[in-house]
Amino acid sequence: MAPVDPPVPRGGLPVTALYTAGVWAWSERPGADRYASVATRRVFGTVEGVLRIAGWFVRNAPSLRHGLVQRHVMLDALVHEALAQGATTVLELAAGLSPRGTAFTATHDVAWTEVDLPEVVSYKAALLARDPQGQAVSARPTLTRLPADLRGADLVDLTGTDGPTMVLAEGLLMYLDDAARRDLLHRIAARLRPAGGWVAFDYVPPADKPPPGWVARLLGAWMRRFTGGEGLAENPTSQADVLDDLRSAGFSEVRTLAPSDAPDAWAVPHLDTRTEQRVFTARMAPEDA
Ligand SMILES: C[S@@+](CC[C@H](N)C(=O)[O-])C[C@H]1O[C@@H](n2cnc3c(N)ncnc32)[C@H](O)[C@@H]1O
Repeated sequence: MAPVDPPVPRGGLPVTALYTAGVWAWSERPGADRYASVATRRVFGTVEGVLRIAGWFVRNAPSLRHGLVQRHVMLDALVHEALAQGATTVLELAAGLSPRGTAFTATHDVAWTEVDLPEVVSYKAALLARDPQGQAVSARPTLTRLPADLRGADLVDLTGTDGPTMVLAEGLLMYLDDAARRDLLHRIAARLRPAGGWVAFDYVPPADKPPPGWVARLLGAWMRRFTGGEGLAENPTSQADVLDDLRSAGFSEVRTLAPSDAPDAWAVPHLDTRTEQRVFTARMAPEDA
């Protein structure tokens, strides 16, 4: 008998995890099939349908799914860099249905903790419970899932401070206003300071984008409806603001990369497709260095 999908978390930002799970599966990233479901395929299909119709009105609109795959590949490459430099732990904030921890803990000796809202963590666990292969992933001692609301969670209390750590936050910062972004970066810095580590996240600063036309405004309104009112934050933030925020939180070696800036060895795909994507990364020196 085919495994039965669990009930889907409804409304709000968790729905965005269903679309991104659809992209992970569409791009056949390692481990993504573990988290595919009828719901992820349906949400992916609906969003792609709406974007295709919007594309009839906007010439050369950036492709959302290709941009997401680029950020998956770039953040994976930064995890590889951190592991090569001695990271022992990865903390994946707003992990959603990302298969990254599943893939890395299958091939690397790393302790991996995923954090997301309780309903998303439960849904992810229920997806894994569908079949023996998923149950084996759930039983891995190196892969942990923690429920928490990242607006305010103390990351030291939540995860301890063991080992040089890479903190990832993929697909999260676009929902935060300036104050919430700075607050999160300070809490990540506090988590990393004792043993040192790295942070990496994607974010396309609104100030670097062209002003939205009517189709983009319409899509924004649909997005707010789709996410239960929690649309993208509309701050006039620039790249320089985000780099300053990282330095103010105590990070060094601060850098930002567009897909086309990435080293060839990262093999970032879809460089001939128009996308809007950018990744930020920085290092925190250990306290006693
Ligand atoms: C666009 S999805 C990205 C998921 C995953 N990182 C990926 O790229 O596939 C955004 C995720 O952020 C999570 N999220 C949003 N606000 C959150 C909060 N305050 N606390 C914890 N998770 C949150 C959502 O539940 C969702 O899983």
